[in-house]
Amino acid sequence: TSAHTIRTLRVLLAGPRGFCAGVDRAIRVVEEALRRYGAPVYVRHEIVHNRTVVESLEKKGAIFVEELDEVPADGHVVFSAHGVPKTVPAEAERRNLLYLDATCPLVSKVHREAERHFAGGSEDSRHILMIGHAGHPEVVGTMGQLPLGAVTLINDADEARRVEPKDPTRLAFITQTTLSVDDTSEIVSILRERFPLIEGPKKEDICYATTNRQEAVKAIAPESDLVIVIGSPNSSNSQRLREVAERSGAKAALLVPKLDALDWSVLDDVETVGITAGASAPESLVQEIVDAMSKRFRLNIEERIVKEENVTFRLPSPLGDML
Ligand code: F3S
Repeated sequence: TSAHTIRTLRVLLAGPRGFCAGVDRAIRVVEEALRRYGAPVYVRHEIVHNRTVVESLEKKGAIFVEELDEVPADGHVVFSAHGVPKTVPAEAERRNLLYLDATCPLVSKVHREAERHFAGGSEDSRHILMIGHAGHPEVVGTMGQLPLGAVTLINDADEARRVEPKDPTRLAFITQTTLSVDDTSEIVSILRERFPLIEGPKKEDICYATTNRQEAVKAIAPESDLVIVIGSPNSSNSQRLREVAERSGAKAALLVPKLDALDWSVLDDVETVGITAGASAPESLVQEIVDAMSKRFRLNIEERIVKEENVTFRLPSPLGDML
């Protein structure tokens, strides 16, 4: 590009963005397991939904598998941040595998909530409606805390309007942690209106990181011609960030896994670009994109921080006791 064609691009960086405490902890679990037990360490499912993270752990000696039967008899295996159904640790124990559970503590909290409502299937038991997306590993893991039939999945407002529970007076609801705050609050109001006796958390089980990232993208979207959400297509909270950006006034919003997936023509008519990153996307991916932009444009960068975060989680036992 010759000097006279270089134009200014305004960049609005959303804060907070990127890694949450649960993702940070899950990655540390794999790294610490590798350090302590040596390679290979098996990881059931992508530890967090990000290719860059997965590939960097593979380089250090992690082997990613989908199911436990791919782990050899004397293997060490880590369960991903999304959580696992009860059958998974049970199977690991049956096979005498050494396992470490990297389930985010905020997901485990929802597991415990579900168990409390189920009350062991006693007469105090409530049928549970889980608000979440079918097929997501967190939903599979949470529903798998209880026997089949104890939980009914509610994917959207329509399903909330149509669900016909056997006993509408003995109900509870729980949610996936990475949902859209606005969609979920609509679904919860429908449920509360139809079933006034339903029990549940005050608002929902959406975690602090999801809430803060959505709030931060809302703060930059109205001024942005385009919002780029750095994150993987299978990352639930990243997909939600893209939708929230679009609905909050960004002219367009795109999910971009990493720099080499960015089609530069999307910036052709853009004067202000907003940038955020999903909870599983490393900050290095943000910096790579901003660096590449700085080679093509004169950048005017502004960071908008709507909330400071200082959440950290301890590593699970037996790793945690050493730190
Ligand atoms: Fe946990 Fe929320 Fe991150 S549930 S893994 S802190 S997105």
